[in-house]
Order: sequence, then structure tokens, then C-alpha cells
Amino acid sequence: MSKQYKRTLITTALPYANGPVHIGHLAGVYVPADIYARYLRLNGREVAMIGGSDEHGVPITIKAKKEGVTPQDIVDRYHKIIKDSFEELGISFDVYSRTTSDIHSATASEFFRRLYDNDRFVEKTSMQLYDEKAGQFLADRYVTGECPHCHAQGAYGDQCEKCGTSLNATDLINPRSAITGNVPVMRETKHWYLPLDRWEDDLRQWILEGHKEWKTNVYGQCKSWLDLGLQPRAVSRDLDWGVPVPVEGADGKVLYVWFDAPIGYISNTKEIYPETWETWWKDPETRIINFIGKDNIVFHCIVFPAMLMAYGDGYQLPDNVPANEFLNLEGDKISTSRNWAVWLHEYLRDFPGKQDVLRYVLTANAPETKDNDFTWRDFQTRNNSELVAILGNFVNRVIVLTHKYFDGIVPAAGELAEADTAAFAEVKAAAAACTEALETFHFREALKQAMEIARIGNRYLQETEPWKLAKTDMARVATILNVAMQICGSLAVACEPFMPFMAKRLADDLRLSNLNWGLIGNADIVAAGTAIAPASLLFEKIEDDAIKAQTDRLDRIKEENKVNSWKPAEQQPDVDFDTFCRSDIRVATVTACVKVPKADKLLQFTLDDGTGEPRTIVSGIAAHYPEPEKLVGTQVVFIANLPPRKLRGITSQGMILSAENNDGSLVLMAPSAPVAPGAQVK
Ligand code: MF3
Ligand code: ZN
Repeated sequence: MSKQYKRTLITTALPYANGPVHIGHLAGVYVPADIYARYLRLNGREVAMIGGSDEHGVPITIKAKKEGVTPQDIVDRYHKIIKDSFEELGISFDVYSRTTSDIHSATASEFFRRLYDNDRFVEKTSMQLYDEKAGQFLADRYVTGECPHCHAQGAYGDQCEKCGTSLNATDLINPRSAITGNVPVMRETKHWYLPLDRWEDDLRQWILEGHKEWKTNVYGQCKSWLDLGLQPRAVSRDLDWGVPVPVEGADGKVLYVWFDAPIGYISNTKEIYPETWETWWKDPETRIINFIGKDNIVFHCIVFPAMLMAYGDGYQLPDNVPANEFLNLEGDKISTSRNWAVWLHEYLRDFPGKQDVLRYVLTANAPETKDNDFTWRDFQTRNNSELVAILGNFVNRVIVLTHKYFDGIVPAAGELAEADTAAFAEVKAAAAACTEALETFHFREALKQAMEIARIGNRYLQETEPWKLAKTDMARVATILNVAMQICGSLAVACEPFMPFMAKRLADDLRLSNLNWGLIGNADIVAAGTAIAPASLLFEKIEDDAIKAQTDRLDRIKEENKVNSWKPAEQQPDVDFDTFCRSDIRVATVTACVKVPKADKLLQFTLDDGTGEPRTIVSGIAAHYPEPEKLVGTQVVFIANLPPRKLRGITSQGMILSAENNDGSLVLMAPSAPVAPGAQVK
């Protein structure tokens, strides 16, 4: 960043209020945005961090329909959960509002109206997908199909989340209604389109020439869409939930959610700064940064900027859009509908007081350049062997020693030795690297550098060994503990953006007020003579049982999902009747059934098949019948005319029939009433 701006407007993607927020949202958007905002504030820079719930659009109406409640019920419920949990995690929004607010409908309507009045839209009647059974048009998430670009299945009517491309619903290959599963028909309807193609040259110039510094994933996606050529995009929908289209003859039509939601950034700014909001949006001295996940790139880099260009009136475009990749959970894609997520409000309930641990782990493992995986094991390890063992341990040692040797009063330093000046220099170097990383949105690296300060502190104590000198040279011990105390002070500042709760506690314990970024590495952060607080643990170990409770929960969800997503297998190709009749299927009575020794899966059946000769069949269902002796006396169905097979030295004469259930369990087939052994099944 060469230009020095006067102020920074930080926007964070407005989460859909159709569910609580999860760790994927946090790692991708809110934690990095919050780190950046806090860092700027520590530098005394003017910042507004804007957030809010996205309360319109199909994700909301689908959820309402599923639960049989109104869309308003849904957004009221989740807006509250989301807002409260963000606050508890310390996400320092200057405003967190919602797109159902009056100020937002007014702002979004006015925005549309001005584009309409200035002929920025194309009005077009065309054939659109319609679900006859549901009696409604299908757009956005109401319709899924094959992506015409990457050919992924399950692309939505407005976007393929696989390749990120923005779509028109009629582009989908083999579209299906998400409401009824029906194949849609075509029906005529009128909509307003924003001709993105009119802005293509300006967008090219702005991004491809002007913002080569953007993250490669962002720049690359923009380039490939621009190279593909932009199409007009409908900005209205036939729905009854949303901001009504503010023109005559638009009954039953609302603004497309991706038209209204980004305007929410503006409405929410207005809400907190009714007098000065325009400075935040129209003054070239404002730097706008949009924090988003990768599925939002097209809307923030192409669609919303085109809207702002079309509006004119001095609106500034974002200077950067540091989009992240996705966070997976234990190897699988996070999914709200499959409940495959760690929900923030549940985390806060299960790990009270451990906000910083989650913030730390999500930053240390942030999906900045590629998709990344969150695992509970890694969460535990990072807490126990990094936060507890490195950071907590260092601070604790310094405070304990200060109490032990100086009654908790920070001693004055004497003349500094080489080890002392070297330690300060190392802290300054880490601070410089941390600053550089923060300025360029490399938050993982920034956190690593902040933690490096604790490592420097530990090495310093290890090298100087004040506990040994205490017998001989108290003056030197005083200097060492003074220096170590300053390093603790540096940590309180450097960690504040990442772990604000810990930083606040540490600053309070060291009696620091007015933290500011420039202090890091200084020799006079904590004044000599300060009476510090007694030692307390900044972080505590997380035990195995807390982790197991979480992984057990995920195992249960995986099981439920397996059952819920079960479908009967595709039907086999036809078999001709004569071939089928050659299978000799019969009923038999079980006379003995035992586990085959040293074979986990196998049971050995002895059957009365009516011939007078016992028949032996070995079957791989031991896991499903743990008490095989209980099967004696029951009847089974088996194929008699398969060639005999040797299994573990036992000759198996046929195959017993069973069915696999939707949860993976196997159930033996049996006649519905007793049948003479040997009777044929036809
Ligand atoms: N609700 C959208 C999502 O979760 C993001 C909206 S961002 C905004 O993907 F720009 F539209 F506000
Ligand atoms: Zn695609």
C-alpha cells in the first residue's frame, strides 16, 4: 500500500440469517477482519468495521418453509444468535445491523430507483424456470443443476459454488426444483437487468491494471470472468420476501438478494454515522476493504462495483478484497444443512472463557491460500503445546519470579548486557515482520510473529537463568526480570488483535493502559516500581474428555447424515426370466450357528434343508449378530446351487440372503410364517 489513507472502512460479508455462524465463517471473514480492525485501532487509525445479517433471499425462505414458520421468524431467531455470539467472541463491529431494517429498505430502494431513473437497467420479458407444482418461479437456490462451466452437479440458479461462476438460472443443465424436485417448465416474466457488459472495460481497467497486488485467487477469478465476457444480470425476482421493486407495475417482485445485501454495508454505515456516512463511502481518502469468503468474490469484485459505477455520485470502490478459501471440518466440507459444523454459539457454551483459543486456532490454521482443515486434535495440541506451553508459561514464569524476588514490584533495570539488547532487537524484528504481514493481510504469518515474541522471551530466560543468579547477583536478576517484564508488555500489545481477552487480562495484570502498537519492543512499557497482579494462568490445558465430547458429537452427526442421505441403489440391468429361474432359492432352519474362530466377520451356519443331510454355510455377518446361538431355530433363505467355496478351511455350500439397511446394518431374510425346510422360493 503506497498511498496513506485517512480512514479505513472494513466490511465483512453479511452472513445469511438462516442459521448460526460456524468456524468456517469465522476463519474466512470475521476473525481476520477483526484482527485487522484492532491492529489499525492500536495504531490510532480511524476505522469503521461494518457487519450485519443478510436477511433476504432464498436461503431464508427455504429455511422458513422447511420449518413451517415465517421468514421473519427465521431471521429474528438467527440474527440474535449471530449478533450475540459475535459479540461474545470479541468481534469488534462498530455496527452489526440487519437488512430488514427500515433504513436499509429505504437505502436499497433509492439505489435501485436512481439506476432505474438514469436508464442503467435493461427491462426484459423472458422465459424463466417455473415450478408448476409449487406455483412459483425458480431462481437462485430454488433451483439446482449442472454447472455449464465446470459441469459440477448441484450448482445454484445464481452461482456455481464449485467454480465460483455467477450464473443465470436458465444456464443450468438439467435444472430441478429444490422445492419439489420437479423438472421446471418455462414461463414468461419481466425483470430488470444490470448490463454488466457495459462496465466490462472499466472493471478490467480497475482490477486487471489497477489491482495486481490483490491475492492471486481473487485476481485470477476476476480475470477469468472478465476474459469470458460479462452478461447482463437480473436484479429482481418473483418472490414475496425482500425489498419490493420500487417502480410501477412491479407487484410481486423484489430486489435480488445480491442486489440488496451489499447495499447493506452502506445502510449500516448510515445507521451509525447518519451525519458523516458519505465521508466513509465517497471520500477518496477512505480506504475500503471487503473481507469475504471465496464464494463471494464475483459479487464483491464484479457485480457490486458495477452497481457502484452505475450509481456514480462519488462512490469509492474497494481497495482490496482479501477473500479466503474454505475451512473444512475433520476432512469434510462444512455444511449448514448437514449440520456438519462447529457452531460458534455452541463452542462458547462448551468452552466458556476460551474465546481466544478458538481465535488463535482459526488464525494459525486460516485458509488463506488453500482450503484448510479444522480438527479437534489440532485444536487441543495448539492450545496445550503453544498457548499453554509457550505463551502462558513465559508470562507465568516472569510474574512468579517477580513476586518471588521482588514482592511483585517491577524492579528497575541496571545497565543492559548484550543478551538484553539482543532480546529487545529480536522483539522489534518480530514486530516489524508482524506489521508487514498484517498490512498485507497475511494473518497466519502475523500471528506466528506475535507468538515469536513469547518464544524469544522463553529463550531469554533460558539463557540468562535468573533463578541461578538469585543466590549471587540480585542486581543482575533485577535487570533480567525488568527486561522479561517488558517482553510481557510487548506480548500484551502484539497479541491484542488476535487474542483480545488474554491481552486485556495481561495488560490489566501489568497495570498497562493505552496499549498502542508502537510500544512493541520498547524498554519502558511496564514502569519500574509497578505493583503487578499475582500470577494467574492465562491459558489452561484442554483435557482429552472435552475433545472426545466434540468428536463424539461429530460421529453422531455423521451417522445421522448417512441415514438421511440414504437412497435405494440404482436398479440392475434386466436379467432374462430363464436365467433368473436357474437360481435355486430355498428355506432352511438353523440348527447351529457359531463364530468362525479367528475370523471377525464370519459365522458358520448348520442348516436343516429338508434333505436329511446337514448343510454348512459360512456367512460374513458376524458383526451384525453378536449372539449367533440365538439364531438357532429361526429360518433363513439361501441360494442352494452356488458352487461350494472354501472359507477358512470350511466348505460353504451356498449363500444366505440378507438386506443392508440404510444405517449399514445387515438383516437376515426370513419367511413371514414357518415353512417346511427345503421349500423353494419362487
Ligand atoms: N449472505 C452472503 C453469504 O453468506 C454474503 C452477503 S455479503 C453482502 O454468502 F455483500 F452481500 F453483504
Ligand atoms: Zn461451476
